[in-house]
Amino acid sequence: MTIRAHWLAGAATLMTAGCTTASTAPMVSGQSAAPTMIAPVLTTADARDSHSYARPAEARVTHVALDLAADFVARTMSGTATLDVLSAPTARELVLDTRDLTIRSVTDGGGKALPFTIGTSEPIHGAPLTISHGGAKQVRIAYTTAPGAPALQWLTPDQTAGKAQPFLFSQGQAILNRSWIPTQDSPGIRQTWEAAITVPAPLTAVMSAETLTPKGEPAATGTRRFRFRMDKPVAPYLIALAVGDLAFQSTGPRTGIWAEPVTLAKAAGEFTDLEKMVTTAEGLYGPYRWGRYDLLVLPPAFPFGGMENPRLTFVTPTVLAGDRSLTSLVAHELAHSWSGNLVTNATWNDFWLNEGFTVYFENRIMEALYGPERSAMLADLGWSDLQSALKDNAGPDTALHLDLAGRDPDAGLTDIAYEKGATFLRTLEAAVGRPRWDAYLKGYFDRHAFQPQTTAGFRADLAANLFKGDKAAMASVGVDEWLYQPGLPANAVHITSPAFAKVDALAAAYPAGGDPPAEWAGWTTQERQRFLAALPRTLSRDRLAALDRAYGLTDTGNSELRFGWLQLALPNDYEPARASAERFLLSQGRRKFVAPLFATLLAQPGWGAALAQSIYARARPGYHAVTTATVDTTLGYRDGKPAG
Ligand code: BES
Ligand code: ZN
Repeated sequence: MTIRAHWLAGAATLMTAGCTTASTAPMVSGQSAAPTMIAPVLTTADARDSHSYARPAEARVTHVALDLAADFVARTMSGTATLDVLSAPTARELVLDTRDLTIRSVTDGGGKALPFTIGTSEPIHGAPLTISHGGAKQVRIAYTTAPGAPALQWLTPDQTAGKAQPFLFSQGQAILNRSWIPTQDSPGIRQTWEAAITVPAPLTAVMSAETLTPKGEPAATGTRRFRFRMDKPVAPYLIALAVGDLAFQSTGPRTGIWAEPVTLAKAAGEFTDLEKMVTTAEGLYGPYRWGRYDLLVLPPAFPFGGMENPRLTFVTPTVLAGDRSLTSLVAHELAHSWSGNLVTNATWNDFWLNEGFTVYFENRIMEALYGPERSAMLADLGWSDLQSALKDNAGPDTALHLDLAGRDPDAGLTDIAYEKGATFLRTLEAAVGRPRWDAYLKGYFDRHAFQPQTTAGFRADLAANLFKGDKAAMASVGVDEWLYQPGLPANAVHITSPAFAKVDALAAAYPAGGDPPAEWAGWTTQERQRFLAALPRTLSRDRLAALDRAYGLTDTGNSELRFGWLQLALPNDYEPARASAERFLLSQGRRKFVAPLFATLLAQPGWGAALAQSIYARARPGYHAVTTATVDTTLGYRDGKPAG
């Protein structure tokens, strides 16, 4: 199948490395002199995004200019979004995605009022904002966000590490940004953007873009304004903001770390290899095309491990283990600068194109930086995750290409996308050999840079550029089974860690007696994770107590080990684990840890449900909406309250 860019591609040229500049494209309202770059949209049926109301073939947003003020008392963002619009000659309407926005006015670039309607608000999708723009090249929307906007988390000073100032951060993926930016919130509709963000004077604003005013500039009394610009077209879920008491430390010529001042030194110690990581990634799959690569360490409520916001990855503080043992997460988010941010899933049905490629690339970065032993351990842990994902589910959602129509795209956020996706790429690598595979992948990122991609588009690219028309070779790898069938094909490549064989043997022998293995002292975090996971699920309290005495698991500050330990110790009634779980659940809000632990607590007969409910009642106000959405279901909350 040929994927053709729609005529709305502007300059009608697919962009390669540096982007094509459409000099005829609409300019930004006064602020930016640079011409807007316009990325193509796909018009094939498989590229239709059921999670957006937008009708991009009629009129589409090419540039967003935000002018917003953050009100920490009202917990709102208020101001204007000015959108550049490219319309088909006959188009009269522009349709945007919104969620819980209060729209004050809609005008064209010249200030003339434009009629608009806001459709019915659906729980997942939000509401369409339909503007009778009559072909106008620019529309300006004046609006205010809702205090409960799911993309924005407003933290009290007490919920930060420093405890002195409030904090705000946004999380756009998958379809949350429509709750603070009225635009076409579809990953296939790339937009350049700029922003002016006004915040209370003591605070600093950072965004996933170039900073034009590092220290901010004076604005209305008691406030400062920060300006930003992203001149590369990005999927709108990648527009991100954080505001707080933030400080910066450089880690190299194009890398550095933003964090609350009390967290900065620890973070800088953890991520000393950041600059090297970027260079290593470039050595694999071509130039890093975004300029700087900085990290922002968020307060503990951040619901994800990491989020690949361009130029500024957001990371959870739970990766600060103190020994750099969990930094593969940064390799993952960095890898998204190619897979995801450069070549982007056209719809959430193609989510595996973002995450599967990224897990594969992440592992290659880890291998190149720290050697094959470390990367094999990480890959093997991923293989176990894949096995559990497949054990829970054998249905259509175990195919790589998903059908998420009518569901929250969050339903696709499983280890199928991540680990089955990565396993598929490893299987392709094994089939053609690493040199050919690496050359292909590098070319793939070049060919599709700054463009959306569908599963069928990837398949077509594979056929043309990896298998070069050799249908038999392509069929022998089972490409279509991998992409479209549930389960794991028989030719799946499993990377095994030789070190884990020893760990597994010690874990299997442990219940029978003897001291906890002294080898632990010399193990990496990955071997320790494996040991905890490999122990039989039923273990006596005495045997658990011995492990705890020897390894200090109940109080470990390594979040992955704490999690692995609690998942073993709680169901075996090892008492000290309960208070440990309570402290852990009250001190961070990362969904990957929080949701399974509440499920485990709830499942314990006798004491479990009461403890789960008691902890959740206290922890919930500090959790992000992403985390509460999941745990609410587990614990029977409705509308934010425990059921009767
Ligand atoms: N892009 C994802 C996070 C995400 C996915 C947010 C879908 C919202 C919807 C990010 O790159 C990610 O995968 N983070 C992982 C860590 C990674 C090392 C697997 C996470 O947060 O656990
Ligand atoms: Zn990811």
